[in-house]
Amino acid sequence: MIFDTHAHYDDAAFDEDREELIAALPAGGIGTVVNVGASLESTKTTLELARRYPYFYGAAGVHPNETGELTERDMEWLKGICREPKIVAVGEIGLDYHWDEPERGVQKKWFVRQLELAREVKLPVIIHSREAAKDTLDLMKGERAEEIGGVIHCFSYGVEMAREYLDMGFFIGIGGVLTFSNGKKLKEVAAYAPLDRIVLETDCPYLAPVPNRGRRNSSLNLPYVAEALAEIKGVTREEIEIQTCRNARRLYRLEER
Ligand code: NI
Repeated sequence: MIFDTHAHYDDAAFDEDREELIAALPAGGIGTVVNVGASLESTKTTLELARRYPYFYGAAGVHPNETGELTERDMEWLKGICREPKIVAVGEIGLDYHWDEPERGVQKKWFVRQLELAREVKLPVIIHSREAAKDTLDLMKGERAEEIGGVIHCFSYGVEMAREYLDMGFFIGIGGVLTFSNGKKLKEVAAYAPLDRIVLETDCPYLAPVPNRGRRNSSLNLPYVAEALAEIKGVTREEIEIQTCRNARRLYRLEER
């Protein structure tokens, strides 16, 4: 069974058929899903999904582009959510300079604040970092993120950066981009990273793999990513599924629950 470590089933793209689709996941070979909050609102929906479906867990956090209006009261609320039994991570949090909004100083402030939250509630973090490689790494080193642990989701940097995060004990999140013809950099990272440090993710509804590129993504597309990774690693797709599932359980510390 495949473990989808990063999905957004709360997204409006699933409003038409959310229940049917989620119900169909186990028969489609998807064993576990972590739905990831990206705002206060989606963290709330994430918690509802995690409570409702036994094979769902949730992550609570605010995406860098959504941090503009955050307050300390919101952090208190988030802390309460983090104590819910089915919440397994703080995320997604980080820096996004592609959408330079809100300004970088604000993004950094709430990134640090949510790293502190993760440390306090003893949960791993899900890091979103886009076009912000140096600042993300500097900030995480400053906060001793290696003591917190987690995953660099939708990894988009090169081998050098991958080495930095692997040295800090982080997992590398790999999804549909691995199947893209312009996904050369990620293929190099996938070849470089040890198989016991890679986890599979969709980031659905975004980033559907080939042959469904451009359509709405779902966890049911993950076999295509597993197949592409199997080719790179020279193992079977089954081995990829088993090992990445084991990794995901370690990442989210599911055995300790
Ligand atoms: Ni995401």
